[in-house]
Amino acid sequence: MTIDPSNQYLCAMERIYQPGIYFAPLQESTDFVYRKAHAYYFGGIDKYFSPYLRLQKDGTLKKSHLRDSAPENCSGYHLVPQIMAGNSNDFLFLAKHLTDLGYQEINWNLGCPYPMVTGKEMGAGLLPYPEKISEILNQSLPQLTSRISVKLRSGLTSAEEIFQVLPVLNQYPLSEVILHPRIAKQLYSGTADRGLFQKVAALISHPLVYNGDIVNLEDFQEADKTFESVDNWMIGRGILKNPFLAMEIKGVQLPGRIEKTELLEQFHGEIVSSNATMLSGHSHLITRMTKFWEYFCFQFPNPHKAFKRVKKSVNMSKYEIAVRENFSQLRNEE
Ligand SMILES: Cc1cc2nc3c(=O)[nH]c(=O)nc-3n(C[C@H](O)[C@H](O)[C@H](O)COP(=O)(O)O)c2cc1C
Repeated sequence: MTIDPSNQYLCAMERIYQPGIYFAPLQESTDFVYRKAHAYYFGGIDKYFSPYLRLQKDGTLKKSHLRDSAPENCSGYHLVPQIMAGNSNDFLFLAKHLTDLGYQEINWNLGCPYPMVTGKEMGAGLLPYPEKISEILNQSLPQLTSRISVKLRSGLTSAEEIFQVLPVLNQYPLSEVILHPRIAKQLYSGTADRGLFQKVAALISHPLVYNGDIVNLEDFQEADKTFESVDNWMIGRGILKNPFLAMEIKGVQLPGRIEKTELLEQFHGEIVSSNATMLSGHSHLITRMTKFWEYFCFQFPNPHKAFKRVKKSVNMSKYEIAVRENFSQLRNEE
């Protein structure tokens, strides 16, 4: 599958003034198969971010991570690979590896909230230690030719932490900073703290990207009105639920109901067939596709039922029946 730049929707988008839309990295969802299919069937995304690459205990990279950032798997759209590192050796190893592959921008994860990561002073686990963040940037940046951006939360256990981190980030030549204004302890509960984002916007000297809880056009318009200085927006779960969302935000006329259903069906078909060639055994494939439907079901008349139908599938023939039933319901929707 090659991404055709003459795709009518992409062309239409180029003619319209656009806010920048970034597709957030989401482990187990936005891998290279998903990103490529999304860029081909929908588009509207200025930058796709890969889920983070991290070194294993033995200092090597997992095969799946290598595959996910291999340029031959990531052509046709703009990818910013993300790294997870808690010291400058790991940072440099990962960033140099990606620079050698030709990536000109690399994103550093300072936001992962999960204890398995934060406990090792990585991801959001570095936010209480601004001096360590400074040391890593200080030792790494002079040795790199690629641009470095940072994606962070507002703190590990308190939103006060970000105000100690900002002066450090301001000292270094970062290409941009993406803020998801929740503390790690919250995981995804509560709402993104837009008041805090405003305060950070007033203090930061880098381009600031907003991320968090934009799931529809109205959410975007409200955020766009609130944060006048923001030009670029990162969206994750909202696009997984509605792959057309970036197009909607950019004012592209959406296809009609029948064409929309066809696009969704082709998108799904591409993701199943690409995963089938990559994953060994049907149970892995069903697990993978069940994760996909957790969000994709929101395109269907009764999302809960559509998801349940897929989740109950015990083998591929049951899965195919469930999918056929979901699409037939979508086609028959009034
Ligand atoms: C299942 C899942 C996996 C995620 N994986 C990553 C990741 O690898 N790197 C990262 O920076 N953020 C990751 N995130 C956070 C998202 O990129 C994003 O910051 C968060 O979902 C808030 O944006 P949203 O409300 O638009 O989804 C993940 C989030 C979820 C729910």
